[in-house]
Amino acid sequence: MSDNIFEGLDEYLPVDDTIFKDKKPLDHRFLPENLPHRKNQITAIARYWVEALKGTTPSNITIYGKTGTGKTAAAKFAKEQLIDASKDKPVFIRVEYVRCTDFNTEYQVLTHLCQRLGRDVPSRGWTKGEIVNAFRDILRRNAFGRNLILIVILDEVDILLEKDGDGLLYTLTRTDNIAILSISNYLNFKQFIKPRVASSLMDKEIVFPPYDAEQLADILEERSELAFFEDTLEDSVIPLCSAMAAKEEGDARYALDLLESAGDIAIDNGFDKVLGKFVREAKDVIEYNKVKDVVITLPTQQQRVLAAILKLTQEGEEITSGKLFESYKEISKGDAVTYRRIFDFVNELEMLGIISTNTVSKGRAKGRTNIISLQIDTDLLEENLYNLL
Ligand SMILES: Nc1ncnc2c1ncn2[C@@H]1O[C@H](COP(=O)(O)OP(=O)(O)OP(=O)(O)O)[C@@H](O)[C@H]1O
Ligand SMILES: [Mg+2]
Repeated sequence: MSDNIFEGLDEYLPVDDTIFKDKKPLDHRFLPENLPHRKNQITAIARYWVEALKGTTPSNITIYGKTGTGKTAAAKFAKEQLIDASKDKPVFIRVEYVRCTDFNTEYQVLTHLCQRLGRDVPSRGWTKGEIVNAFRDILRRNAFGRNLILIVILDEVDILLEKDGDGLLYTLTRTDNIAILSISNYLNFKQFIKPRVASSLMDKEIVFPPYDAEQLADILEERSELAFFEDTLEDSVIPLCSAMAAKEEGDARYALDLLESAGDIAIDNGFDKVLGKFVREAKDVIEYNKVKDVVITLPTQQQRVLAAILKLTQEGEEITSGKLFESYKEISKGDAVTYRRIFDFVNELEMLGIISTNTVSKGRAKGRTNIISLQIDTDLLEENLYNLL
């Protein structure tokens, strides 16, 4: 055995690209130098954070907005700018970005922050009190020779609050020289915060509205210049991606995904130009992958709830909570969870964008009822669920 396993595999490498100049600018993690249509929001962050340049701890900020409205990008952009602006100032500012999907408990976040700030604490084994003390120690005056101001960006903070409660916010708000920037997809995330924490948070709120089709087109124009060779996009491509993403609640990430997938489809079909029809195909590809990913990773009981919703939808029923539970019990054949638990599942499915719920008034006697409706294609769902249940 002297052959190297990588020998003779060149045919598996992508062919030379005539469409993409550089795919990186289409990646979600790419941070553009310019964020069109977010000037007001970024300026708003800067107006609070400018305090740090004078040596004062800024106010806490909460950013709200639906998915793909540029919250993460804007926060990271403001972070870079602040660090840049602080370079020739006699202040010591650290901005730490924490994704609460990666660090989803108070313990994990504090450990991570300690480590980032150069304090070597173990990732497990200590009590929470020990970690809190170690963390506060770093923030004590003069720990770095100068007064440290720490800005903590808590992205997707809802995840942490839901899982671990508001302990982290409590600790951070009760430690000197810390400003929090929380990022949330939901306007109602404060339901997870107790009054005593809310009152010390005293956050300023900044809303990120969904982009409209024209704004999305501006964003895509800038990105496409970096990503595609000149004249590879048919004129209709960007308007189509923008219009389709505007319908999906103004999601810039979706618009970028459409553009990239349309380019991939052009290559797969041997074209050296991206046609408008590839954007429509891209929509199906993205939807298919999304449904598949979501459905196969759901726990079995949730798949059954979804199967029940699918069945009722196909039967043309208006889906009330009661009907859903009956149908779900039939599908589960004895191995069913409680009525209450079903509603946690319904909430989770709604968060994933698979269903939506609408509260309707059923007349005075009957009060209000939740009506559930499917947000994805029934055939697509059936195809994916069929293999699982
Ligand atoms: N104004 C903008 N200009 C250029 N690119 C943008 C703009 N807004 C968003 N994007 C891009 O769209 C994608 C999604 O943006 P971002 O991740 O900031 O959204 P988000 O609001 O944090 O979404 P989520 O709630 O899903 O985390 C990223 O690739 C980002 O660079
Ligand atoms: Mg984000």
